[in-house]
Amino acid sequence: MRRNSCEEESTAEEETTNVEDEEQITPVGTNTTANMAPYVTAGVWLNDDDHIMSGDEIIARSFNSDALMICHSEVLSKSVVDRLSDRLKIVANYSVGVDHCDLGALKERGVVVTNTPDVLSDATAEIAILLLLGACRRAYEGDQLLRTGSWTNWAPSAMNGIQLTKKKLGIVGMGRVGQTVAMRARGFDMEIHYSNRRRLPPESEAGAIFHPTLKGLFGGVDMISLNCPATPETINLINADSIGWMKPGVVFVNTARGSLIDETALIEALNSGHVAAAGLDVFQVEPGGNPAFAKCPNLFMLPHLGSSTHETRKAMGDRALDNLDAYFAGLEPRDRLI
Ligand code: DGY
Repeated sequence: MRRNSCEEESTAEEETTNVEDEEQITPVGTNTTANMAPYVTAGVWLNDDDHIMSGDEIIARSFNSDALMICHSEVLSKSVVDRLSDRLKIVANYSVGVDHCDLGALKERGVVVTNTPDVLSDATAEIAILLLLGACRRAYEGDQLLRTGSWTNWAPSAMNGIQLTKKKLGIVGMGRVGQTVAMRARGFDMEIHYSNRRRLPPESEAGAIFHPTLKGLFGGVDMISLNCPATPETINLINADSIGWMKPGVVFVNTARGSLIDETALIEALNSGHVAAAGLDVFQVEPGGNPAFAKCPNLFMLPHLGSSTHETRKAMGDRALDNLDAYFAGLEPRDRLI
């Protein structure tokens, strides 16, 4: 794909014309758009209002597109992939997670797929720590006391929470984000434990204690952070059984994907107090979330903000564009998955 210099901005009107025979990219998302704007030439269609594209819209656009840039809300299921135009050559995801893409079906169609690893690890780790702190220190309840004018006293026992410092943190998935969470948590003198498909080399472990089983990990830690990808093996990883392996009073956070959690089981555990508090940035249903969660005062929630900083969203867009540039220059895109 061709990029113009910032001075060469084209108008929206120009952008939507001349698409017929042009190499075309279909990018999605506010910051993707912000990223893209300076580079747009004729032949690039921008999703200016950031609507979530349905499968039907993606299919229709694929007939005018050589490339598609989408975010994780745009779902490329097998039934969508099967109906994509033969013209589409590459899907450059504006996300690290690719659970919204049926990679097997895309591979069968010969479509190249890339993602944006590395650049969102810091931002996502920040949110994991925010969730841990918010859940432990009852940030939602405290905020509500002020906003509803119900803060009436300071008392020794009022709003007591759980202290993070020196606790044992269990990280599920010690990839880039998990390792960054560990690094930040060490700033709170936390003892790091982890489970991962493979044990890390000592220099990456940096003293973290490996547990070959989830049961072993969950039974030994005070807090848990989910940082593994959503795959067929990890769907509903957190369910009534695995919650039972956790210590009573555990604190639990998820910045990975909502599909990792059986939300009904988590609500039961929050209500019983087995899970003392939780922090969630991701949900089974997005956008929207689970209305039943709103009734859990011991739950601190954010609307999938993991990567949402100006710096990171720009870096994600740049990375996705670099992948497209490489592909159309006949080179191997750096983040090619298939
Ligand atoms: C990702 O990149 O996977 C983040 O969750 C944002 O979509």
